Amino acid sequence: MFKPLSDASKNRVHLFGRRKGKRLRDSLRQAIKHDLPNVRIDAASINSPCDPKQFFEPKHETIWLEIGFGGGEHLAAQAKANPQVGFIGAEIFENGIASLLRQSATAALKNIRILDSDAREFLPMVGDNSLDRVFLLYPDPWPKKKHAKRRFICQATLDQLARIMRPGAEFRIATDHPEYARWCLRHAPVHPAFQWVISGPNDWRCRPEDSIATRYEQKAIREGRTPMYFSFLRNPG
Ligand SMILES: C[S@@+](CC[C@H](N)C(=O)[O-])C[C@H]1O[C@@H](n2cnc3c(N)ncnc32)[C@H](O)[C@@H]1O
Repeated sequence: MFKPLSDASKNRVHLFGRRKGKRLRDSLRQAIKHDLPNVRIDAASINSPCDPKQFFEPKHETIWLEIGFGGGEHLAAQAKANPQVGFIGAEIFENGIASLLRQSATAALKNIRILDSDAREFLPMVGDNSLDRVFLLYPDPWPKKKHAKRRFICQATLDQLARIMRPGAEFRIATDHPEYARWCLRHAPVHPAFQWVISGPNDWRCRPEDSIATRYEQKAIREGRTPMYFSFLRNPG
């Protein structure tokens, strides 16, 4: 069952995205009912600080997190290509969770766990130096100035990511929104824990070779917008 945020977490941060969309087809409803409990990370029952390896059996030494995985096609492709890695996908939108569950079942993927609640609530519960890679692909841009404080990238989330990412871990961001891109570059590279990895003037135009276009990216390209890709490394120390 797709559970609402716990009362405690409701008190801490307000969730701005939508959790429900179109009524789920029967097969997807069944996936939520039967498959989600097997891979669900229940934020309300986590003992903090947690080692994310504990969510996997057998254990994975390397853990990657995708925040807001949408339809889950990028996460499923990464999980298939990297069976040695344990993947945590965070998403609040029920239809997206059902879609990832279906892809995961079709490809018989065993290395995905799903956090069906606000990623901003989860980060503070994770122990130091726990994550080896983090993806934030096409976060909601909240384009109006008065909504900028809703953006996922902010001092507080960067501080948390800095704490929970291992030195050398990569933080990948993609956006098609020029103001969000500027916003990221005003925040992430100036954070003392992160450095922007850039080897040429056109780097930001090229999707990493080991990545696929997400559903949102495909739509952005169809509608004439330009994807931008940023990679930040967690500095040592
Ligand atoms: C614009 S969509 C992009 C989806 C996907 N990454 C893609 O590129 O197709 C942003 C996604 O982030 C999810 N999201 C927004 N805030 C979130 C949060 N605090 N925790 C987890 N997911 C969140 C939304 O539900 C939505 O599916």
